Amino acid sequence: MPSKHHMLAVFLLAVAVALSQSKEQEMSHADHMEHHFDPKESAKSFDDPARDAWQLPDRVIAALNLKRGQLVADIGAGTGYFSIRLARSAAAPRVYAVDIEPSMVSYLRERAAKEGLHNVTAVQAAADQPNLPEPVDLILIVDTYHHIGDREAYFRRLVKSLRPGGRVAIIDFKPDSPEGPPKEFRFPPEKFKSEMGKAGYKLAAQHDFLPRQQFLIFQVEGQPSR
Ligand SMILES: C[S@@+](CC[C@H](N)C(=O)[O-])C[C@H]1O[C@@H](n2cnc3c(N)ncnc32)[C@H](O)[C@@H]1O
Repeated sequence: MPSKHHMLAVFLLAVAVALSQSKEQEMSHADHMEHHFDPKESAKSFDDPARDAWQLPDRVIAALNLKRGQLVADIGAGTGYFSIRLARSAAAPRVYAVDIEPSMVSYLRERAAKEGLHNVTAVQAAADQPNLPEPVDLILIVDTYHHIGDREAYFRRLVKSLRPGGRVAIIDFKPDSPEGPPKEFRFPPEKFKSEMGKAGYKLAAQHDFLPRQQFLIFQVEGQPSR
């Protein structure tokens, strides 16, 4: 006859196994990574000058080929690494620096004011939409695509935030990058193409010069390229 202790141990083991299985299922069904970012802590890595060596921001901005007077949204702007550089670039676009984290939005607002960048506007995003005040010519999404949930619906909705011929540029970590999110949230180019295809976009350009990240540009299917 098993002792009470023995039965309790078996019961606790069964509960632990059931919990770990449901956790595994939850993780394997998760299509995006939930993570909260603190601006001061994040600035140490996002704005580390050593990042420039592999992020190649000037080459990225040149490849985006912006024209004067165009509008840009940097979704998941973080501490503003790209927003600030875009605002200072030759085309001097108006930049909506968008983030889901309220503390990041305040940080972006303060940074733009401190750096005298009147063409940067910080915007508070929701998880399912960026809340842009007007449609833009280019949406840039750097190291943030994998944080967005239900992406097909998200990008389908995003079409209304693009001006005719507008583009969505996605930069995100390669599977073999020495840094980045856990491996399951580093996607091959085919995944971006297939997800964006389902959301109604076609590939407009694919750049291979970034050593650590994929860099793909999409346009809404059926719209003429500009
Ligand atoms: C890894 S950081 C990238 C920051 C910046 N793009 C860069 O390259 O330095 C991801 C950022 O996306 C934000 N984020 C996550 N999900 C988001 C969403 N659904 N909409 C807007 N921002 C989001 C996070 O708060 C965080 O600031």
